[in-house]
Amino acid sequence: MTTATVDLDAIAHNLDLVRTVVSGADVMGVVKADAYGHGMLPVAAALRTRGVNWLGVALPSEALTLRDAGDTERILAWLWSPGDVDIERCVATEVDLGVSNSRMLKEVCAAAVATGKKARVQLKVDTGVSRNGCSLSQWPALITETIEAGPLVEVTGVWSHLANADVPNHPSVHEQRLVFDQACASAEDLGLVIPMRHLANSPAALLYPETHYDLVRVGIGLYGVSPVEGRDFGLRPAMALVSSVASVKAVDAGASVSYGATWTATEETSIALVLGGYADGIPRSASNRAEVFINGRPHPIVGRVAMDQFMVALQGEARAGDEVIIFGVAPTANDFARACETIGYEIVTRIGPRVPRVYVGAP
Ligand SMILES: Cc1ncc(COP(=O)(O)O)c(C=O)c1O
Repeated sequence: MTTATVDLDAIAHNLDLVRTVVSGADVMGVVKADAYGHGMLPVAAALRTRGVNWLGVALPSEALTLRDAGDTERILAWLWSPGDVDIERCVATEVDLGVSNSRMLKEVCAAAVATGKKARVQLKVDTGVSRNGCSLSQWPALITETIEAGPLVEVTGVWSHLANADVPNHPSVHEQRLVFDQACASAEDLGLVIPMRHLANSPAALLYPETHYDLVRVGIGLYGVSPVEGRDFGLRPAMALVSSVASVKAVDAGASVSYGATWTATEETSIALVLGGYADGIPRSASNRAEVFINGRPHPIVGRVAMDQFMVALQGEARAGDEVIIFGVAPTANDFARACETIGYEIVTRIGPRVPRVYVGAP
């Protein structure tokens, strides 16, 4: 069986580290996507215990999962589409909602009317990512409409998102920051009071002090997966994905392993079977590329990773029951990701629901 051990002390360490780096700015703990696979509720509780004022999620439904678990503090949910059934309850329970256009503003106003509560709104401006966020041409109109909706809407912040903060000295970070400052200034000229501004994700928090403003939105950094190639910043990986050897058997030279016969033994080889497959978040692209650690040594994954299992060519002695480290402190999720041609974010986030999360460290 594969288990994901989540070290809450490592998350606390990473939080402290980010807090030191960003000094004056508040740290939002980004816990969307089940806290990047680490388990939203235990991680959120650990962050709140450590004084985190803001939690960030993508979906309104994620915010309501936190509310249903008893979280009454500040939450921002930033990604939703027309007719989202959870908007009214978000307004009723004082979840801050990201608003990027007039249609979204109208929906939160309707929810404010229906619930009798002012909607808490954070206006998002597109400074260069070109996903959601209000385009600059629409920004003045959105600001004016928001001000006019005053009795129904409380603006709690203005924010944006960066495209290339994971690259040191990337010129677009500076350009996006200038656009952000201009957008804030033009909103103020139109009469908007901006209580809070935020722009930075983890890499920006770690690399670009000029993007810190009032708050940084930190996800991957809290989980100890470095967002910047070749740097670890002293972050501690929070998740270790560990399995064990289920069985060992010798295959003859010429024997092929797993579906599609993509790997063939060139000599008699001991093959270890490991429970854990793409249903558990071991990417199929790990087939014949990635390594796992058994008894302190790297061993190659051979043949195709299947839904529930993968195979390893043993390099030395190993027995059923021996520990198989897929990633953790060493190798890291980023090391494993590199071999699978993806990023550490995707590796930790895609750990499947049947993998038990075991929590260690102070809750
Ligand atoms: C809008 C927004 N802010 C912040 C984050 C957190 O980013 P990171 O995990 O790099 O800290 C994300 C993550 O995707 C995001 O979408």
